[in-house]
Amino acid sequence: MTETSNTNGELYGVMAEFDDVTTLCNAADKVRDAGYTKWDCHTPFPVHGLDDLMGIRFTKLPWVVLIMGLTGCSLAVLMQWWMNAVDYPYDISGKPQWSLPANIPVIFEMTVLFSAFTAFFGMWIANGLPLWYSPLFRNKRFARVTDDKFFVSIEATDSLFDSAKAHDFLSSLGASNTEDVYHSNETAALPGSLKGKMIVLACLATIPLAMVYNSYGKTTTEPRVHLVPDMDKQDKFRAQGQTTLFADGRMSRAQIEGTIAQGDLEDYSNNVVNAAFVARGEERFNIYCSVCHGFNGQGDGTVHRRATELADAGHAAWVPPADLTLEMYADKSDEELFSTITHGIRTMPAYGGQIPEKDRWAIIVYLRALQLAQKGEPVDMTGMTSEQRGEVMFASKSCSTCHTVDGARLIGPPLNGLIGQEITLDDDSTLVIDDDYILKSIANPMAQARKGYPKAMLEVALTDEELTDLLNYIKSQN
Ligand code: HEC
Ligand code: HEC
Repeated sequence: MTETSNTNGELYGVMAEFDDVTTLCNAADKVRDAGYTKWDCHTPFPVHGLDDLMGIRFTKLPWVVLIMGLTGCSLAVLMQWWMNAVDYPYDISGKPQWSLPANIPVIFEMTVLFSAFTAFFGMWIANGLPLWYSPLFRNKRFARVTDDKFFVSIEATDSLFDSAKAHDFLSSLGASNTEDVYHSNETAALPGSLKGKMIVLACLATIPLAMVYNSYGKTTTEPRVHLVPDMDKQDKFRAQGQTTLFADGRMSRAQIEGTIAQGDLEDYSNNVVNAAFVARGEERFNIYCSVCHGFNGQGDGTVHRRATELADAGHAAWVPPADLTLEMYADKSDEELFSTITHGIRTMPAYGGQIPEKDRWAIIVYLRALQLAQKGEPVDMTGMTSEQRGEVMFASKSCSTCHTVDGARLIGPPLNGLIGQEITLDDDSTLVIDDDYILKSIANPMAQARKGYPKAMLEVALTDEELTDLLNYIKSQN
Protein backbone atom coordinates (compact mmCIF):
# COMPACT_ATOMS: atom_id res chain seq x y z
CA MET A 1 0.00 0.00 0.00
CA THR A 2 1.30 3.47 -0.83
CA GLU A 3 0.61 6.25 1.62
CA THR A 4 -0.21 9.40 -0.29
CA SER A 5 0.13 11.90 2.51
CA ASN A 6 -0.26 12.26 6.21
CA THR A 7 -3.43 14.31 5.81
CA ASN A 8 -5.79 11.38 5.48
CA GLY A 9 -9.25 11.99 6.80
CA GLU A 10 -12.33 9.80 6.52
CA LEU A 11 -12.26 6.71 4.29
CA TYR A 12 -13.61 7.46 0.81
CA GLY A 13 -13.50 3.88 -0.50
CA VAL A 14 -11.38 1.23 -2.07
CA MET A 15 -9.62 1.60 -5.41
CA ALA A 16 -8.40 -1.31 -7.53
CA GLU A 17 -5.97 -1.10 -10.44
CA PHE A 18 -6.26 -3.32 -13.52
CA ASP A 19 -3.80 -3.79 -16.35
CA ASP A 20 -6.05 -4.40 -19.31
CA VAL A 21 -9.55 -3.85 -20.60
CA THR A 22 -10.63 -7.49 -20.56
CA THR A 23 -9.93 -7.90 -16.84
CA LEU A 24 -11.63 -4.57 -16.15
CA CYS A 25 -14.76 -5.57 -18.07
CA ASN A 26 -14.87 -8.92 -16.36
CA ALA A 27 -14.43 -7.19 -12.97
CA ALA A 28 -17.16 -4.64 -13.74
CA ASP A 29 -19.57 -7.46 -14.54
CA LYS A 30 -18.78 -9.18 -11.22
CA VAL A 31 -18.95 -6.02 -9.08
CA ARG A 32 -22.40 -5.32 -10.50
CA ASP A 33 -23.50 -8.90 -9.82
CA ALA A 34 -22.24 -8.56 -6.25
CA GLY A 35 -24.90 -5.87 -5.76
CA TYR A 36 -22.75 -2.77 -5.23
CA THR A 37 -24.45 0.48 -6.28
CA LYS A 38 -21.96 3.22 -5.38
CA TRP A 39 -19.00 2.34 -7.53
CA ASP A 40 -17.41 3.40 -10.77
CA CYS A 41 -14.92 2.44 -13.48
CA HIS A 42 -12.15 4.82 -14.63
CA THR A 43 -10.45 4.31 -18.00
CA PRO A 44 -8.07 6.30 -20.22
CA PHE A 45 -10.39 5.93 -23.23
CA PRO A 46 -14.05 5.08 -23.81
CA VAL A 47 -14.65 1.35 -23.45
CA HIS A 48 -17.61 0.25 -25.50
CA GLY A 49 -20.06 -1.99 -23.69
CA LEU A 50 -18.73 -1.02 -20.28
CA ASP A 51 -21.91 0.83 -19.31
CA ASP A 52 -23.93 -2.32 -20.09
CA LEU A 53 -21.62 -4.45 -17.97
CA MET A 54 -21.89 -1.89 -15.14
CA GLY A 55 -25.66 -2.01 -15.42
CA ILE A 56 -26.01 1.69 -16.21
CA ARG A 57 -29.43 2.35 -17.66
CA PHE A 58 -29.90 4.64 -20.65
CA THR A 59 -30.42 8.25 -19.56
CA LYS A 60 -33.95 9.65 -19.24
CA LEU A 61 -32.68 13.08 -20.30
CA PRO A 62 -34.03 12.91 -23.91
CA TRP A 63 -37.56 12.56 -22.52
CA VAL A 64 -37.08 15.50 -20.20
CA VAL A 65 -35.71 17.51 -23.15
CA LEU A 66 -38.72 16.52 -25.27
CA ILE A 67 -41.18 17.57 -22.59
CA MET A 68 -39.42 20.89 -21.97
CA GLY A 69 -39.19 21.50 -25.76
CA LEU A 70 -42.94 21.00 -26.07
CA THR A 71 -43.44 23.27 -23.06
CA GLY A 72 -41.37 25.99 -24.74
CA CYS A 73 -43.31 25.49 -27.96
CA SER A 74 -46.72 25.84 -26.30
CA LEU A 75 -45.58 28.77 -24.15
CA ALA A 76 -44.46 30.59 -27.31
CA VAL A 77 -47.82 29.97 -28.99
CA LEU A 78 -49.69 31.10 -25.90
CA MET A 79 -47.50 34.16 -25.34
CA GLN A 80 -47.80 35.44 -28.90
CA TRP A 81 -51.52 34.72 -29.08
CA TRP A 82 -52.05 36.57 -25.80
CA MET A 83 -49.89 39.55 -26.77
CA ASN A 84 -51.05 40.00 -30.36
CA ALA A 85 -54.62 38.77 -30.40
CA VAL A 86 -55.91 39.37 -26.86
CA ASP A 87 -54.00 41.88 -24.79
CA TYR A 88 -52.99 44.33 -27.53
CA PRO A 89 -54.81 43.50 -30.77
CA TYR A 90 -53.62 45.77 -33.54
CA ASP A 91 -55.07 45.82 -37.03
CA ILE A 92 -52.29 45.95 -39.64
CA SER A 93 -53.73 46.31 -43.14
CA GLY A 94 -56.47 43.83 -42.32
CA LYS A 95 -54.06 41.02 -41.60
CA PRO A 96 -55.35 38.39 -39.22
CA GLN A 97 -54.56 39.07 -35.59
CA TRP A 98 -53.70 35.46 -35.01
CA SER A 99 -52.16 33.22 -37.62
CA LEU A 100 -49.64 30.45 -37.11
CA PRO A 101 -47.14 31.15 -39.95
CA ALA A 102 -46.32 34.66 -38.69
CA ASN A 103 -45.49 33.26 -35.26
CA ILE A 104 -43.32 30.33 -36.27
CA PRO A 105 -39.91 32.01 -35.81
CA VAL A 106 -40.52 32.73 -32.14
CA ILE A 107 -42.14 29.33 -31.58
CA PHE A 108 -39.08 27.71 -33.12
CA GLU A 109 -36.70 29.79 -31.02
CA MET A 110 -38.50 29.15 -27.71
CA THR A 111 -38.59 25.41 -28.47
CA VAL A 112 -34.86 25.37 -29.14
CA LEU A 113 -34.13 27.57 -26.12
CA PHE A 114 -36.05 25.38 -23.66
CA SER A 115 -34.63 22.15 -25.14
CA ALA A 116 -31.05 23.39 -25.19
CA PHE A 117 -31.12 24.72 -21.64
CA THR A 118 -32.74 21.53 -20.38
CA ALA A 119 -30.19 19.34 -22.18
CA PHE A 120 -27.25 21.43 -20.94
CA PHE A 121 -28.23 21.90 -17.31
CA GLY A 122 -30.01 18.52 -17.12
CA MET A 123 -26.75 16.83 -18.10
CA TRP A 124 -24.97 18.69 -15.29
CA ILE A 125 -27.58 17.78 -12.70
CA ALA A 126 -27.83 14.15 -13.83
CA ASN A 127 -24.04 13.76 -13.58
CA GLY A 128 -23.78 15.53 -10.25
CA LEU A 129 -21.72 18.33 -11.80
CA PRO A 130 -19.93 20.55 -11.14
CA LEU A 131 -17.60 18.27 -9.18
CA TRP A 132 -14.56 20.33 -8.23
CA TYR A 133 -12.55 17.51 -6.80
CA SER A 134 -12.49 13.75 -6.24
CA PRO A 135 -10.49 12.09 -3.41
CA LEU A 136 -9.18 9.67 -6.06
CA PHE A 137 -6.99 12.49 -7.36
CA ARG A 138 -5.00 12.33 -4.12
CA ASN A 139 -3.71 8.89 -5.08
CA LYS A 140 -0.49 8.96 -7.14
CA ARG A 141 -1.25 5.67 -8.89
CA PHE A 142 -4.57 7.02 -10.06
CA ALA A 143 -2.73 9.52 -12.30
CA ARG A 144 -2.12 6.68 -14.75
CA VAL A 145 -5.83 6.55 -15.48
CA THR A 146 -5.01 9.16 -18.12
CA ASP A 147 -2.44 6.84 -19.64
CA ASP A 148 -2.52 3.03 -19.52
CA LYS A 149 -4.24 1.81 -16.35
CA PHE A 150 -7.83 0.92 -15.54
CA PHE A 151 -9.48 1.44 -12.16
CA VAL A 152 -12.55 0.36 -10.25
CA SER A 153 -13.54 2.30 -7.13
CA ILE A 154 -16.12 1.22 -4.57
CA GLU A 155 -17.30 3.97 -2.24
CA ALA A 156 -17.52 3.61 1.52
CA THR A 157 -21.06 4.98 1.49
CA ASP A 158 -22.31 1.87 -0.36
CA SER A 159 -24.57 -0.18 1.98
CA LEU A 160 -22.63 -3.41 1.18
CA PHE A 161 -19.23 -1.80 1.81
CA ASP A 162 -16.70 -3.48 4.03
CA SER A 163 -13.08 -2.45 3.50
CA ALA A 164 -11.44 -5.86 4.01
CA LYS A 165 -14.03 -7.71 1.93
CA ALA A 166 -13.75 -5.14 -0.86
CA HIS A 167 -9.96 -5.59 -1.02
CA ASP A 168 -10.28 -9.38 -1.23
CA PHE A 169 -13.08 -9.24 -3.73
CA LEU A 170 -11.30 -6.86 -6.08
CA SER A 171 -8.03 -8.79 -5.85
CA SER A 172 -9.89 -11.98 -6.70
CA LEU A 173 -11.12 -10.26 -9.87
CA GLY A 174 -7.55 -9.83 -11.12
CA ALA A 175 -6.64 -6.40 -9.74
CA SER A 176 -2.88 -5.80 -9.83
CA ASN A 177 -3.17 -3.53 -6.80
CA THR A 178 -5.87 -2.43 -4.34
CA GLU A 179 -5.75 0.33 -1.77
CA ASP A 180 -7.84 2.56 0.48
CA VAL A 181 -8.57 6.09 -0.61
CA TYR A 182 -9.18 8.81 1.94
CA HIS A 183 -10.84 12.19 1.97
CA SER A 184 -8.49 14.98 2.86
CA ASN A 185 -8.60 16.25 6.45
CA GLU A 186 -7.12 19.57 5.52
CA THR A 187 -9.16 22.54 6.65
CA ALA A 188 -11.42 24.10 4.07
CA ALA A 189 -10.53 27.60 5.24
CA LEU A 190 -8.84 29.96 2.75
CA PRO A 191 -5.15 30.67 3.37
CA GLY A 192 -4.63 34.04 5.02
CA SER A 193 -2.41 35.46 2.25
CA LEU A 194 -5.10 34.71 -0.37
CA LYS A 195 -7.69 36.43 1.80
CA GLY A 196 -5.55 39.56 1.91
CA LYS A 197 -5.10 39.61 -1.87
CA MET A 198 -8.83 39.19 -2.43
CA ILE A 199 -9.63 42.09 -0.14
CA VAL A 200 -7.19 44.30 -2.09
CA LEU A 201 -8.77 43.20 -5.42
CA ALA A 202 -12.28 43.87 -4.11
CA CYS A 203 -11.22 47.38 -3.09
CA LEU A 204 -9.71 48.02 -6.53
CA ALA A 205 -12.90 46.77 -8.18
CA THR A 206 -14.91 49.52 -6.52
CA ILE A 207 -12.83 52.24 -8.21
CA PRO A 208 -14.59 52.14 -11.60
CA LEU A 209 -17.96 52.17 -9.80
CA ALA A 210 -16.87 55.17 -7.76
CA MET A 211 -15.76 56.95 -10.95
CA VAL A 212 -19.11 56.27 -12.64
CA TYR A 213 -20.96 57.48 -9.55
CA ASN A 214 -18.80 60.58 -9.39
CA SER A 215 -19.55 61.66 -12.97
CA TYR A 216 -23.21 60.62 -12.81
CA GLY A 217 -25.49 63.50 -13.80
CA LYS A 218 -22.58 65.87 -14.52
CA THR A 219 -21.91 67.55 -17.85
CA THR A 220 -18.59 68.40 -19.38
CA THR A 221 -17.33 70.29 -22.41
CA GLU A 222 -14.32 67.99 -22.77
CA PRO A 223 -14.58 65.57 -25.69
CA ARG A 224 -15.02 61.92 -24.80
CA VAL A 225 -11.92 59.78 -24.45
CA HIS A 226 -11.65 57.84 -27.69
CA LEU A 227 -9.61 54.69 -27.27
CA VAL A 228 -10.27 53.57 -30.85
CA PRO A 229 -11.23 56.66 -32.87
CA ASP A 230 -12.44 54.75 -35.98
CA MET A 231 -14.60 57.10 -38.02
CA ASP A 232 -16.58 58.61 -35.15
CA LYS A 233 -15.18 62.03 -35.73
CA GLN A 234 -14.91 63.32 -39.24
CA ASP A 235 -14.81 66.72 -40.79
CA LYS A 236 -18.02 67.34 -42.64
CA PHE A 237 -19.87 70.18 -44.30
CA ARG A 238 -23.16 71.25 -42.81
CA ALA A 239 -25.95 72.73 -44.91
CA GLN A 240 -25.58 76.41 -44.00
CA GLY A 241 -22.08 76.34 -42.54
CA GLN A 242 -18.94 78.28 -43.39
CA THR A 243 -15.61 76.99 -44.63
CA THR A 244 -12.30 78.42 -45.72
CA LEU A 245 -11.89 75.66 -48.28
CA PHE A 246 -13.89 77.41 -51.00
CA ALA A 247 -13.37 80.97 -52.13
CA ASP A 248 -16.97 81.98 -51.43
CA GLY A 249 -16.76 80.53 -47.91
CA ARG A 250 -19.99 78.50 -48.27
CA MET A 251 -20.29 74.85 -47.33
CA SER A 252 -23.37 74.24 -49.52
CA ARG A 253 -22.28 73.91 -53.11
CA ALA A 254 -24.40 74.62 -56.14
CA GLN A 255 -24.65 71.92 -58.76
CA ILE A 256 -21.72 72.15 -61.14
CA GLU A 257 -22.84 73.21 -64.56
CA GLY A 258 -23.06 70.48 -67.13
CA THR A 259 -23.21 67.66 -64.54
CA ILE A 260 -26.06 65.42 -63.38
CA ALA A 261 -26.51 64.33 -59.79
CA GLN A 262 -26.18 60.60 -59.14
CA GLY A 263 -29.45 58.77 -59.82
CA ASP A 264 -30.89 61.66 -61.80
CA LEU A 265 -29.73 60.40 -65.15
CA GLU A 266 -33.28 59.86 -66.39
CA ASP A 267 -34.59 63.35 -66.42
CA TYR A 268 -38.36 63.41 -66.03
CA SER A 269 -38.48 67.09 -65.22
CA ASN A 270 -40.61 69.43 -67.31
CA ASN A 271 -43.17 66.59 -67.34
CA VAL A 272 -41.52 64.69 -70.15
CA VAL A 273 -44.07 61.91 -70.44
CA ASN A 274 -42.53 59.13 -72.40
CA ALA A 275 -43.00 55.36 -72.41
CA ALA A 276 -40.34 54.92 -69.71
CA PHE A 277 -42.17 57.35 -67.43
CA VAL A 278 -45.50 55.51 -67.82
CA ALA A 279 -43.74 52.19 -67.27
CA ARG A 280 -42.20 53.59 -64.10
CA GLY A 281 -45.66 54.73 -63.01
CA GLU A 282 -47.11 51.29 -63.68
CA GLU A 283 -44.39 49.61 -61.69
CA ARG A 284 -44.81 52.01 -58.74
CA PHE A 285 -48.61 51.78 -58.87
CA ASN A 286 -48.41 48.00 -58.77
CA ILE A 287 -46.05 48.16 -55.80
CA TYR A 288 -47.74 50.85 -53.72
CA CYS A 289 -51.38 51.11 -54.75
CA SER A 290 -52.49 47.76 -56.16
CA VAL A 291 -52.64 46.01 -52.77
CA CYS A 292 -55.72 48.10 -52.00
CA HIS A 293 -56.91 49.54 -55.30
CA GLY A 294 -56.22 46.42 -57.38
CA PHE A 295 -54.01 46.11 -60.43
CA ASN A 296 -56.66 47.65 -62.64
CA GLY A 297 -57.48 50.39 -60.11
CA GLN A 298 -61.00 49.17 -59.48
CA GLY A 299 -60.59 48.88 -55.74
CA ASP A 300 -60.38 45.10 -55.46
CA GLY A 301 -56.82 44.58 -54.19
CA THR A 302 -55.82 41.74 -51.88
CA VAL A 303 -55.91 43.89 -48.74
CA HIS A 304 -59.43 44.91 -49.62
CA ARG A 305 -60.58 41.34 -50.18
CA ARG A 306 -59.04 40.12 -46.93
CA ALA A 307 -60.31 43.06 -44.91
CA THR A 308 -63.79 42.54 -46.35
CA GLU A 309 -63.73 38.94 -45.13
CA LEU A 310 -62.74 40.15 -41.67
CA ALA A 311 -65.38 42.87 -41.72
CA ASP A 312 -68.04 40.37 -42.77
CA ALA A 313 -67.03 38.15 -39.86
CA GLY A 314 -67.53 41.15 -37.56
CA HIS A 315 -63.83 41.64 -36.70
CA ALA A 316 -63.27 45.10 -38.14
CA ALA A 317 -64.87 48.03 -39.89
CA TRP A 318 -63.52 48.52 -43.40
CA VAL A 319 -63.95 51.34 -45.84
CA PRO A 320 -63.34 50.02 -49.35
CA PRO A 321 -60.58 51.61 -51.43
CA ALA A 322 -62.01 53.84 -54.14
CA ASP A 323 -62.63 52.47 -57.65
CA LEU A 324 -60.16 54.86 -59.29
CA THR A 325 -61.57 54.24 -62.76
CA LEU A 326 -64.86 55.91 -61.89
CA GLU A 327 -65.71 59.12 -63.68
CA MET A 328 -65.63 61.08 -60.41
CA TYR A 329 -61.93 60.27 -59.94
CA ALA A 330 -61.11 60.75 -63.62
CA ASP A 331 -62.54 64.24 -63.20
CA LYS A 332 -60.15 65.09 -60.37
CA SER A 333 -57.18 67.26 -61.28
CA ASP A 334 -53.62 65.91 -61.25
CA GLU A 335 -52.90 68.18 -58.31
CA GLU A 336 -55.77 66.73 -56.27
CA LEU A 337 -54.54 63.18 -56.94
CA PHE A 338 -50.99 64.25 -56.06
CA SER A 339 -52.26 65.64 -52.78
CA THR A 340 -54.20 62.41 -52.08
CA ILE A 341 -51.10 60.28 -52.63
CA THR A 342 -48.89 62.65 -50.64
CA HIS A 343 -51.12 63.25 -47.62
CA GLY A 344 -53.61 60.39 -47.79
CA ILE A 345 -57.32 61.00 -47.52
CA ARG A 346 -59.75 59.97 -44.77
CA THR A 347 -58.97 56.28 -44.24
CA MET A 348 -56.25 56.07 -46.90
CA PRO A 349 -52.76 56.52 -45.43
CA ALA A 350 -50.21 59.03 -46.77
CA TYR A 351 -47.55 57.81 -49.17
CA GLY A 352 -45.55 61.03 -49.52
CA GLY A 353 -42.87 59.73 -47.19
CA GLN A 354 -42.40 56.54 -49.16
CA ILE A 355 -42.82 57.53 -52.79
CA PRO A 356 -40.46 60.16 -54.19
CA GLU A 357 -42.15 63.13 -55.82
CA LYS A 358 -41.22 62.12 -59.35
CA ASP A 359 -42.69 58.68 -58.83
CA ARG A 360 -45.94 60.18 -57.54
CA TRP A 361 -46.32 62.06 -60.81
CA ALA A 362 -45.47 58.89 -62.71
CA ILE A 363 -48.21 57.04 -60.80
CA ILE A 364 -50.72 59.72 -61.75
CA VAL A 365 -49.76 59.47 -65.42
CA TYR A 366 -50.25 55.72 -65.25
CA LEU A 367 -53.52 56.16 -63.35
CA ARG A 368 -54.77 58.36 -66.19
CA ALA A 369 -53.89 55.55 -68.59
CA LEU A 370 -55.88 53.09 -66.43
CA GLN A 371 -58.85 55.45 -66.34
CA LEU A 372 -58.77 55.95 -70.11
CA ALA A 373 -58.40 52.23 -70.76
CA GLN A 374 -61.45 51.39 -68.66
CA LYS A 375 -63.62 54.28 -69.64
CA GLY A 376 -66.57 52.89 -71.54
CA GLU A 377 -68.51 54.89 -74.06
CA PRO A 378 -70.07 57.75 -72.09
CA VAL A 379 -73.66 56.78 -71.38
CA ASP A 380 -75.97 58.94 -73.41
CA MET A 381 -78.67 59.90 -70.94
CA THR A 382 -80.87 61.88 -73.32
CA GLY A 383 -84.37 60.49 -73.41
CA MET A 384 -83.86 58.49 -70.21
CA THR A 385 -86.34 58.74 -67.38
CA SER A 386 -85.16 60.23 -64.11
CA GLU A 387 -85.18 56.72 -62.60
CA GLN A 388 -82.95 55.33 -65.38
CA ARG A 389 -80.50 58.20 -64.99
CA GLY A 390 -80.41 57.40 -61.28
CA GLU A 391 -79.54 53.78 -62.04
CA VAL A 392 -76.58 54.85 -64.24
CA MET A 393 -75.31 57.15 -61.49
CA PHE A 394 -75.73 54.46 -58.83
CA ALA A 395 -72.89 52.65 -60.60
CA SER A 396 -70.83 55.61 -61.83
CA LYS A 397 -70.90 57.65 -58.59
CA SER A 398 -69.52 54.74 -56.54
CA CYS A 399 -72.77 54.04 -54.64
CA SER A 400 -72.62 50.38 -55.71
CA THR A 401 -69.27 49.99 -53.94
CA CYS A 402 -71.09 50.11 -50.62
CA HIS A 403 -74.75 49.44 -51.39
CA THR A 404 -76.78 46.78 -53.16
CA VAL A 405 -80.42 46.88 -54.15
CA ASP A 406 -80.96 43.15 -53.64
CA GLY A 407 -81.05 43.07 -49.84
CA ALA A 408 -77.37 42.12 -49.35
CA ARG A 409 -75.36 44.18 -46.88
CA LEU A 410 -72.03 45.65 -47.96
CA ILE A 411 -70.56 48.61 -46.08
CA GLY A 412 -73.86 50.42 -46.08
CA PRO A 413 -77.43 49.15 -45.80
CA PRO A 414 -79.12 47.65 -48.87
CA LEU A 415 -81.13 50.39 -50.57
CA ASN A 416 -84.17 48.36 -51.67
CA GLY A 417 -87.42 48.63 -49.75
CA LEU A 418 -86.31 51.77 -47.90
CA ILE A 419 -89.48 53.86 -47.98
CA GLY A 420 -91.69 53.12 -44.99
CA GLN A 421 -88.96 51.13 -43.18
CA GLU A 422 -88.71 51.90 -39.46
CA ILE A 423 -85.07 52.28 -38.44
CA THR A 424 -83.03 53.27 -35.39
CA LEU A 425 -80.42 56.01 -35.69
CA ASP A 426 -77.10 56.34 -33.93
CA ASP A 427 -78.65 58.41 -31.14
CA ASP A 428 -81.24 55.64 -30.54
CA SER A 429 -84.11 57.70 -31.94
CA THR A 430 -86.38 55.85 -34.36
CA LEU A 431 -87.63 57.12 -37.66
CA VAL A 432 -89.71 56.00 -40.63
CA ILE A 433 -87.75 56.44 -43.87
CA ASP A 434 -89.26 58.95 -46.29
CA ASP A 435 -88.00 60.92 -49.32
CA ASP A 436 -86.57 63.61 -47.11
CA TYR A 437 -84.43 61.18 -45.10
CA ILE A 438 -83.03 59.58 -48.27
CA LEU A 439 -82.15 62.96 -49.77
CA LYS A 440 -80.47 64.09 -46.57
CA SER A 441 -78.57 60.81 -46.28
CA ILE A 442 -77.06 61.29 -49.74
CA ALA A 443 -76.41 65.01 -49.62
CA ASN A 444 -75.09 65.14 -46.08
CA PRO A 445 -74.09 61.63 -45.06
CA MET A 446 -72.34 62.59 -41.86
CA ALA A 447 -75.33 64.38 -40.37
CA GLN A 448 -77.14 61.28 -39.18
CA ALA A 449 -76.25 57.63 -39.39
CA ARG A 450 -78.11 54.43 -39.03
CA LYS A 451 -77.33 52.40 -35.94
CA GLY A 452 -75.09 49.40 -36.56
CA TYR A 453 -73.32 50.91 -39.57
CA PRO A 454 -70.01 52.80 -39.68
CA LYS A 455 -70.10 56.51 -40.43
CA ALA A 456 -68.19 55.82 -43.60
CA MET A 457 -70.38 57.07 -46.39
CA LEU A 458 -68.72 59.26 -49.00
CA GLU A 459 -69.92 62.72 -49.67
CA VAL A 460 -70.36 62.93 -53.44
CA ALA A 461 -70.91 66.29 -55.11
CA LEU A 462 -74.29 66.09 -56.86
CA THR A 463 -76.58 68.60 -58.47
CA ASP A 464 -80.19 68.83 -57.24
CA GLU A 465 -81.32 67.11 -60.40
CA GLU A 466 -78.89 64.24 -59.90
CA LEU A 467 -80.06 63.92 -56.29
CA THR A 468 -83.65 63.63 -57.44
CA ASP A 469 -82.65 61.03 -60.05
CA LEU A 470 -80.92 58.92 -57.42
CA LEU A 471 -83.91 59.28 -55.08
CA ASN A 472 -86.26 58.14 -57.83
CA TYR A 473 -84.06 55.16 -58.62
CA ILE A 474 -83.90 54.13 -54.95
CA LYS A 475 -87.67 54.52 -54.61
CA SER A 476 -88.17 52.36 -57.70
CA GLN A 477 -86.41 49.57 -55.78
CA ASN A 478 -89.08 49.57 -53.07
C1 HEC B 1 -53.92 50.61 -47.55
C2 HEC B 1 -54.84 50.68 -48.64
C3 HEC B 1 -54.60 51.74 -49.70
C4 HEC B 1 -53.47 51.96 -50.45
C5 HEC B 1 -52.19 51.19 -50.42
C6 HEC B 1 -53.79 53.05 -51.34
N1 HEC B 1 -55.05 53.48 -51.11
FE1 HEC B 1 -56.00 54.97 -52.15
N2 HEC B 1 -57.63 54.69 -50.99
C7 HEC B 1 -57.77 53.75 -49.98
C8 HEC B 1 -59.05 53.89 -49.35
C9 HEC B 1 -59.56 53.02 -48.21
C10 HEC B 1 -59.71 54.96 -50.00
C11 HEC B 1 -61.08 55.52 -49.67
C12 HEC B 1 -60.88 56.50 -48.53
C13 HEC B 1 -62.19 56.90 -47.92
O1 HEC B 1 -63.15 57.07 -48.65
O2 HEC B 1 -62.17 57.06 -46.69
C14 HEC B 1 -58.79 55.45 -51.02
C15 HEC B 1 -59.05 56.50 -51.88
C16 HEC B 1 -58.24 56.91 -52.91
C17 HEC B 1 -58.53 57.95 -53.85
C18 HEC B 1 -59.81 58.77 -53.89
C19 HEC B 1 -59.67 59.94 -52.99
C20 HEC B 1 -60.88 60.83 -52.99
O3 HEC B 1 -60.71 61.95 -53.41
O4 HEC B 1 -61.94 60.37 -52.53
C21 HEC B 1 -57.47 58.05 -54.71
C22 HEC B 1 -57.33 59.00 -55.87
C23 HEC B 1 -56.50 57.07 -54.28
N3 HEC B 1 -56.99 56.39 -53.19
C24 HEC B 1 -55.29 56.86 -54.91
C25 HEC B 1 -54.33 56.00 -54.43
C26 HEC B 1 -53.02 55.84 -55.02
C27 HEC B 1 -52.55 56.58 -56.27
C28 HEC B 1 -52.35 54.93 -54.29
C29 HEC B 1 -50.94 54.46 -54.48
C30 HEC B 1 -49.95 55.46 -54.26
C31 HEC B 1 -53.23 54.49 -53.22
N4 HEC B 1 -54.40 55.17 -53.34
C32 HEC B 1 -52.89 53.56 -52.27
C33 HEC B 1 -56.86 52.81 -49.60
C34 HEC B 1 -55.57 52.70 -50.12
C1 HEC C 1 -67.90 54.20 -48.74
C2 HEC C 1 -69.16 53.50 -48.72
C3 HEC C 1 -70.41 54.22 -49.21
C4 HEC C 1 -70.61 54.80 -50.44
C5 HEC C 1 -69.63 54.94 -51.59
C6 HEC C 1 -71.99 55.26 -50.45
N1 HEC C 1 -72.58 54.96 -49.25
FE1 HEC C 1 -74.50 55.34 -48.76
N2 HEC C 1 -74.15 54.64 -46.87
C7 HEC C 1 -72.99 54.09 -46.43
C8 HEC C 1 -73.13 53.75 -45.04
C9 HEC C 1 -72.04 53.11 -44.17
C10 HEC C 1 -74.44 54.11 -44.65
C11 HEC C 1 -75.06 53.92 -43.26
C12 HEC C 1 -74.61 54.99 -42.30
C13 HEC C 1 -75.21 56.32 -42.58
O1 HEC C 1 -76.41 56.38 -42.62
O2 HEC C 1 -74.41 57.28 -42.74
C14 HEC C 1 -75.06 54.69 -45.83
C15 HEC C 1 -76.34 55.17 -45.87
C16 HEC C 1 -76.98 55.54 -47.02
C17 HEC C 1 -78.37 55.86 -47.11
C18 HEC C 1 -79.34 55.83 -45.95
C19 HEC C 1 -79.87 54.43 -45.86
C20 HEC C 1 -80.37 54.04 -44.50
O3 HEC C 1 -81.00 52.99 -44.46
O4 HEC C 1 -80.03 54.71 -43.52
C21 HEC C 1 -78.69 56.17 -48.42
C22 HEC C 1 -80.03 56.55 -49.01
C23 HEC C 1 -77.41 56.06 -49.14
N3 HEC C 1 -76.43 55.67 -48.29
C24 HEC C 1 -77.29 56.29 -50.49
C25 HEC C 1 -76.10 56.33 -51.15
C26 HEC C 1 -75.93 56.78 -52.51
C27 HEC C 1 -77.05 57.26 -53.43
C28 HEC C 1 -74.59 56.68 -52.79
C29 HEC C 1 -73.89 57.09 -54.09
C30 HEC C 1 -73.95 58.51 -54.40
C31 HEC C 1 -73.94 56.15 -51.61
N4 HEC C 1 -74.87 55.97 -50.64
C32 HEC C 1 -72.58 55.90 -51.54
C33 HEC C 1 -71.83 53.86 -47.17
C34 HEC C 1 -71.65 54.34 -48.47
